Amino acid sequence: MIVCHCQNISDRDILAAIDWMRAADDKTIITPGKIYRALGKAADCGGCMPVFLSVMRSNDNLSVPMQLRNLRGRVGATQEIDNERRQKSN
Ligand code: FES
Repeated sequence: MIVCHCQNISDRDILAAIDWMRAADDKTIITPGKIYRALGKAADCGGCMPVFLSVMRSNDNLSVPMQLRNLRGRVGATQEIDNERRQKSN
């Protein structure tokens, strides 16, 4: 099924690109932009994005790697500890 008519990208192209990116780097965050770049193309009108994202979500390899989840909370906690240390040293 053609998903992106501007660039002639099929659902199989999207799924294959996701599998390829995950196999190449298990820590990468996969975005539509990266998929376009992996396929040597660039988005044009953006009208395909809802279906494009739906196809992406159907691939189990899309999930964010465990070690990259909840970083915002961890960074915030680390930042607080650093701030407390600075205040004590002053
Ligand atoms: S249909 Fe995909 S960018 Fe236009």
